[in-house]
Amino acid sequence: MSDAAALSRTLSARRSCRAFLPDPLPATLIEEIVAEAQRVPSWCNAQPWHLVVTSAAETDRLRESLTEEMKSASHQPDIPFPNRYEGVYKDRRRACGWQLYGAVGVEKGDRDGAHQQMMENFRFFGAPHVAVLTSEAELGAYGLVDCGGFLTALTLAAAARNVATIPQAALASYAPLLHRFFDLPDTRTVVCGISLGRADARHPANSFRTDRADLSEVLQWQG
Ligand SMILES: Cc1cc2nc3c(=O)[nH]c(=O)nc-3n(C[C@H](O)[C@H](O)[C@H](O)COP(=O)(O)O)c2cc1C
Repeated sequence: MSDAAALSRTLSARRSCRAFLPDPLPATLIEEIVAEAQRVPSWCNAQPWHLVVTSAAETDRLRESLTEEMKSASHQPDIPFPNRYEGVYKDRRRACGWQLYGAVGVEKGDRDGAHQQMMENFRFFGAPHVAVLTSEAELGAYGLVDCGGFLTALTLAAAARNVATIPQAALASYAPLLHRFFDLPDTRTVVCGISLGRADARHPANSFRTDRADLSEVLQWQG
């Protein structure tokens, strides 16, 4: 298979997984994925990304801590969330939301069902491992750009090894807990969580694929 075909296959295979099998991954496999993701470019080769990855036992402990935290804590992400999604962004957000709800049988108006599905974020969708991605606060927006590249490469390196992932901004909304739990200094910015493990391929939450905009909306030629 050509390099282009192999990359294309991996890009097509990757998708966000919202139902995992509980089986832990070998530490060496996670190390291999992280090492490969490090090959991405970063401004000045600063490589501002850092990951803490939980063992299966620590994943359970974090799940419990988050559940407890959510009873009293309000959302406090290190990186402010968008205030709103308007226009085409609102449409795309809705479309992928309805794809998920449709797949798991949450109908329009079923607020409880939608809430329960949202809460799956904080169960890490049953994943055996969670990674918390941080950037160096001082590097600001470009540090975050570098971390975004790293995040994407991580999901692809994982997909190429049949490891399922999902980036989760939802976890970043409880940044103070993550700082305490993982002993992260204020000089580090929580970018997002990433749940990882083997996909439960038969689960309805993994049964749909999101769309992409037409190339004409993304690419403009000049001259
Ligand atoms: C930075 C980032 C944060 C995300 N946060 C969440 C999240 O909190 N919960 C969730 O279910 N999906 C989350 N996603 C997954 C997106 O919804 C998903 O990537 C998008 O719908 C495209 O679908 P695909 O990844 O299956 O191709 C996030 C993705 C990214 C890149």
